[in-house]
Amino acid sequence: MKALTWHGTNDVRVESVPDPEILAPTDAIIEITASAICGSDLHIYHGLIPMMEKGDILGHEFAGKVIELGSEVKRVKKGDRVVVPFTISCGGCFFCKQGLYSLCSESNPKGSNQLPLMGYPTAGLFGYSHMYGGFAGGQAQYVRVPFVDTGALILPEGISEEHALFISDIFPTGYMAAENCDIRPGQTIAVWGCGPVGQFAIRSAFLLGAQTVIAIDDDPLRLTLAEDAGAIPLNFGKEDVYEKTRLLTSGRGPDACIDAVGMEAHSHGAEGVMDNVLQAVKLETDKPHVLREIFKCCRNGGNISIPGVYIGMVQNLPFGVAFGKGLNFKMGQTHVQKYTKHLLDLIVQSKIDPRFLISHRITMDQIPEAYKMFAKHQHGCTKVVINPQKSVSDKIGQ
Ligand SMILES: NC(=O)c1ccc[n+]([C@@H]2O[C@H](COP(=O)([O-])OP(=O)(O)OC[C@H]3O[C@@H](n4cnc5c(N)ncnc54)[C@H](O)[C@@H]3O)[C@@H](O)[C@H]2O)c1
Ligand SMILES: [Zn+2]
Ligand SMILES: [Zn+2]
Repeated sequence: MKALTWHGTNDVRVESVPDPEILAPTDAIIEITASAICGSDLHIYHGLIPMMEKGDILGHEFAGKVIELGSEVKRVKKGDRVVVPFTISCGGCFFCKQGLYSLCSESNPKGSNQLPLMGYPTAGLFGYSHMYGGFAGGQAQYVRVPFVDTGALILPEGISEEHALFISDIFPTGYMAAENCDIRPGQTIAVWGCGPVGQFAIRSAFLLGAQTVIAIDDDPLRLTLAEDAGAIPLNFGKEDVYEKTRLLTSGRGPDACIDAVGMEAHSHGAEGVMDNVLQAVKLETDKPHVLREIFKCCRNGGNISIPGVYIGMVQNLPFGVAFGKGLNFKMGQTHVQKYTKHLLDLIVQSKIDPRFLISHRITMDQIPEAYKMFAKHQHGCTKVVINPQKSVSDKIGQ
């Protein structure tokens, strides 16, 4: 089959690789009909995620048709059209039973790689390094899906794979980010980052009862998309984020702040230069500019929700500020399986149509170019959907 493989910083290629096979009785093989590129893939693309190996297949947002099943699979049937969560979860361990699917203790065969730093292993993830299991990802024509009965969301008639694709990751990620804000009526939520995760966080915050949402980015197109959803746009390249959020909240600060940016935050000041240098010489793995800003901007006693990915060490994070202001934190990889049915219901009831985000539909051979375009926000790129069964097409963005 054809798949998108990683070979180093800014180097991904479409290659022929062996077809996946059933390895465990709870596995399925899926023929992928819709796949996507995530902001998390960009961290890998930029060479910032450790324990990647040349030839690893990327991609963790995908949907398709079930074509083969292991002997113990009961719920999912051949021919079902499914969306697959990016978190691989057994469904039966201490963590899965509590809905903490991304912390599954049984699904990461390489969990020992995490022990020196983290103490305990977390769930396996598709296409996300040998720290998270070394599983082949779904920017490919076929994929092996472990524990398919726990994870796969079977699509009803009338809902296409593309329509429900983002339930694999960014929709539940935005939703959980908003849920983690513990929103009360009348509250103001500020969202840093208006990429795919930020867009779903903004819409989810409104769905969960926020009165006002402030959307922060410096990409005019993404700010306009946020405004379309009813948010107040704040361009951090043009306006002072602290001053503007203060003015919009009667001088008190937002009740909750969402970091939908993560480890590659841009900063226009000297602090940004320092972070770039520290990350380049590997003295820090993550650039915590947004966290610093959130610590300052959030109201005292407010909630901080962090869906943006951080992978290791940050420098100069004023933790005493968070302590002094009594801030509350929730963060982590999304417990996707906990949200799939509810979010599908919202789509079926037309409360949201996630396709608002799609700017480009591409074929297999265009994926390397699409990584570049998504990373650099070129050609109005907000989200790319791939049909990996198609391989030849014209140049994109024209
Ligand atoms: N927790 C999870 O399970 C989970 C799942 C999916 C994605 N993520 C993470 O969420 C983050 C966002 O993902 P995405 O797909 O939206 O990525 P993206 O790269 O498309 O979007 C990030 C946005 O942040 C903006 N930004 C950069 N610096 C900023 C700053 N200082 N202030 C405000 N905005 C700034 C960028 O302009 C961009 O629009 C990434 O870190 C990704 O890895 C986490
Ligand atoms: Zn993702
Ligand atoms: Zn489990």
